[in-house]
Amino acid sequence: MKIDNPCILVIHGPNLNLLGKREPDIYGVLTLNEINNQMMAKAEKLGFRLESVQSNYEGVIVDAIQQAEGCYDCIILNAAAFTHYSIAIRDALAAVSVPAIEVHLSNIYKREEFRHNSVISAVVYGQISGFGVDSYLLALEAVACIISSKK
Ligand code: DQA
Repeated sequence: MKIDNPCILVIHGPNLNLLGKREPDIYGVLTLNEINNQMMAKAEKLGFRLESVQSNYEGVIVDAIQQAEGCYDCIILNAAAFTHYSIAIRDALAAVSVPAIEVHLSNIYKREEFRHNSVISAVVYGQISGFGVDSYLLALEAVACIISSKK
């Protein structure tokens, strides 16, 4: 199966709207807009269409995942704090056939113990954690691999 012009949905979870001023020593100085712009530039080079959404609300993220079915070829998700406890987001990811890549700016395994567990990692294609903005850019490379393996 050949996917022309693959369409990617990027979902940013709670508090990521504060990037740039939120704990910059952990999350870096780039704003969410700047991260989205870098992703957009790389997506264009790779021939992907990309849309992004940010929400502080679990249900909005569940809705976005459900609605991705049939509309997007891949999801890139930073579920932020929901990563560690949202069974609803985990179940939404398991319910759709769209492959998802879990990303984190920080290395969650180097941080507080409550961040070491991701309840979503068992239902995603793979996880990228700890590379700052490059976690998102590497996720786009991973999307390219997933899509070319489907051709
Ligand atoms: C995060 C890590 C989470 O533990 C945290 O709650 C976040 C951001 C990251 O990108 O490093 O909000 O997902």
